[in-house]
Amino acid sequence: MKPGLLLHRFLSSIVVPFILLLLFDGIDQAKAIDCGRCSCSKDPATGFQNIDCNGIPFAEIKLTFGVNTGIENVNRFRVIPLNGDLQIPADLLGTNQVRVFNLTNCGSNIMKIDPNAFKASTTTTLEFFINDCNVGNLTWLFLKGFTKVSRLQLVKATNIQSLRTLPSLPSLTQLSITSSKGFDSLNFPGSSLGGLKNLIMTENVELNDTKVESILATLTTANGLEMLSLKSNTFVRRVPDTLANFSALNSLDLSLCNIDFIDSLSFSAPVVKVDLTRIYLSDISDNSFENGYYGNAKVSLDGNQLTEFSSTVYKKILIEMETSQTGIPGSLSIRNNPITCDCQMAWLIRSQSQLVRTVCRLD
Ligand SMILES: *[C@@H]1O[C@H](CO)[C@@H](O)[C@H](O)[C@H]1NC(C)=O
Ligand SMILES: *[C@@H]1O[C@H](CO)[C@@H](O)[C@H](O)[C@H]1NC(C)=O
Ligand SMILES: *[C@@H]1O[C@H](CO)[C@@H](O)[C@H](O)[C@H]1NC(C)=O
Ligand SMILES: *[C@@H]1O[C@H](CO)[C@@H](O)[C@H](O)[C@H]1NC(C)=O
Repeated sequence: MKPGLLLHRFLSSIVVPFILLLLFDGIDQAKAIDCGRCSCSKDPATGFQNIDCNGIPFAEIKLTFGVNTGIENVNRFRVIPLNGDLQIPADLLGTNQVRVFNLTNCGSNIMKIDPNAFKASTTTTLEFFINDCNVGNLTWLFLKGFTKVSRLQLVKATNIQSLRTLPSLPSLTQLSITSSKGFDSLNFPGSSLGGLKNLIMTENVELNDTKVESILATLTTANGLEMLSLKSNTFVRRVPDTLANFSALNSLDLSLCNIDFIDSLSFSAPVVKVDLTRIYLSDISDNSFENGYYGNAKVSLDGNQLTEFSSTVYKKILIEMETSQTGIPGSLSIRNNPITCDCQMAWLIRSQSQLVRTVCRLD
């Protein structure tokens, strides 16, 4: 026998028991965490479990997690309901505490959630997502007393008028409603959202100016609102009137809306971002940027129908951007507009020669 082969045999005799040990260790762990027909995996960032229950009856989920599973801390619980299984029962996950819920792909199920469905997670849940579900029959009381929830997101949800039953969520800083329906009969639960910082309502075909104003009017206690995004709402045709009422508002995204004329934008706080990209804008009034400080603002007017670049509209913010002393200086972007570069631009050449290239596409 060659010495190499001998060495090989010798090594394998050590390695084999070692592998067996590892295997037993693996079995041991699998026994400690029994997720039934749901699947569990460790979230690398938190070390907690991610649980996925795909088409498993809620009664079975409750049996699986109602006993001592050895999990306790759940990072994310994601559930795709079984067709016809409409009711999420009380204490669905026993005493397990969840950080992030994701209820998704409800199909034709019109879901109901017991007010005590997730009560073990009252102080641990940070985020709640609903994706592609009819929420028309939801009573949102299952979130009552959830003191830490900071983010609620609905994507492709229908019958969102049920949100009127949303309980007070003092830590909710971000509410996001995208590609959803049911705005017509929605009484927006603004009084439950006193801590709101970011309101994101994008790609909603039912959202028009009247509705936007009535939603904003309910947010009388949201003094900390910093960001409003109404991106891609085809029937938003005006800048909301009440912006100045939000004393902390510094970011506004109206890109891909349908606003051909801007009369005035009014900010009380120093502006961080104004996105007016591709809104079919053809006219902007002289005092549009009068109210607000733009020294550090990123302003985009790209992809519109503007034909003029007059000092009466832009000089104020350009000077603020140029003279800003702290932070990153602001910028104005006005690419892809049919601006005529003639004598009216002389002011720009005198004071802001580096901008001429952008505005006039001289390159
Ligand atoms: C929720 O789950 C669905 C389906 O897996 C996924 O597409 C979506 O991105 C998830 N949402 C979040 C915020 O994790
Ligand atoms: C809610 O469920 C009831 C039956 O329990 C049904 O009659 C009603 O149409 C449902 N509501 C919505 C908005 O689907
Ligand atoms: C907005 O939609 C509502 C309900 O669909 C309608 O009553 C209202 O007239 C619309 N407002 C505008 C400005 O289009
Ligand atoms: C906004 O503020 C003005 C003046 O402070 C007030 O008259 C108006 O009612 C407010 N609008 C809303 C919707 O809160």
